[in-house]
Amino acid sequence: MYTASSTRYDSMKYNRCGKSGLLLPAISLGMWHNFGNVDDFTGMQKIIFRAFDRGITHFDLANNYGPPAGEAEINFGKIFKQDLQAYRDELIISSKAGYYMWPGPYGEWGSRKYLISSLDQSLKRMGVEYVDIFYSHRFDPNTPLEETMTALDQIVRSGKALYAGISSYDAEQTTKAAAILNSLGTPCLIHQPRYSMYDRWIEQTNAVVKKSVLDVLGEEGIGCIAFSPLAQGLLTDKYLKEIPADSRVGRGLSNGAISQNDISPAKIEWSKKLNEIALRRGQSLAQMAIAWLLKDERVTSVLVGASSAGQLDNNIDALANLSFSADELKEIELILN
Ligand SMILES: NC(=O)c1ccc[n+]([C@@H]2O[C@H](COP(=O)([O-])OP(=O)(O)OC[C@H]3O[C@@H](n4cnc5c(N)ncnc54)[C@H](OP(=O)(O)O)[C@@H]3O)[C@@H](O)[C@H]2O)c1
Repeated sequence: MYTASSTRYDSMKYNRCGKSGLLLPAISLGMWHNFGNVDDFTGMQKIIFRAFDRGITHFDLANNYGPPAGEAEINFGKIFKQDLQAYRDELIISSKAGYYMWPGPYGEWGSRKYLISSLDQSLKRMGVEYVDIFYSHRFDPNTPLEETMTALDQIVRSGKALYAGISSYDAEQTTKAAAILNSLGTPCLIHQPRYSMYDRWIEQTNAVVKKSVLDVLGEEGIGCIAFSPLAQGLLTDKYLKEIPADSRVGRGLSNGAISQNDISPAKIEWSKKLNEIALRRGQSLAQMAIAWLLKDERVTSVLVGASSAGQLDNNIDALANLSFSADELKEIELILN
């Protein structure tokens, strides 16, 4: 029987999510990988308990996390039922719908039919009455954006989610989505984009709105939670010498995981150089990669994955040094450009 640490709120940093009333931990935990039927249940419990004991209140899921799709929500639900129910009001649980879940025309993308059915399934799998944040997981070019956003609004009004979010929408799509949600009275709480030192697309200016995703989020007062902040492990010291057999690449996982092809000699050279800067700062490369994201005040939270509680500890310890000198930032830019 798990009892949460009495010191769980002593050292985590909490950031306001955009201009909302919600505070999120600077580091959140995602369950895209490591929570499927190929993973060890005791290991999952250890990761979740360590997270909460160290002040991570936000756990991020989606309908399709596994494998198989849905399994991560089932496993989270088991852990929730056994040990976390008493802490429900201290937790921010999110889920999403957008990617393929079931056959036929209603099992993916952005229709009202799919989003609402999928969330009902997610709630059942997790055994929770509501999620805190529900996301449109990807922009649907074939469904009117009004329909997708109205479905999010309806979901919030029905009490099945407390807040609405969007994921991987570009700057133009984000601007339009935010305007519709504002008009409906359910402001967009948060955007979840991929963002790391190795993937900086949300800094780039969109040709139509002449702004970056980060600019739009800053102006609109929408929070930002960066996914794959460690480039799935490339921004850690794990691949610097070899590909460990128990790593995401070594295990040969599918479902969007990085593979051997992503580990080019050039990338490893970059990581080695970045690792030297991190060591000089008294940090691991993972810690520096997290700190580098959090230096931008528009980034509310960094959404890490972890295959062990030890990795999570290492990542949370990034909070001990979040500042960069101008010289360090220049040196990092020279490596990345
Ligand atoms: N909205 C979307 O479309 C979307 C898409 C993808 C992800 N996400 C969300 O973002 C979350 C995080 O994504 P991600 O798992 O790709 O994030 P990540 O933090 O970039 O990668 C996590 C992986 O890096 C390795 N790692 C983590 N900490 C480490 C450390 N301190 N030292 C060495 N290795 C370390 C582990 O890999 P090993 O397994 O090799 O140990 C871990 O599984 C997901 O769980 C999900 O919630 C959202």
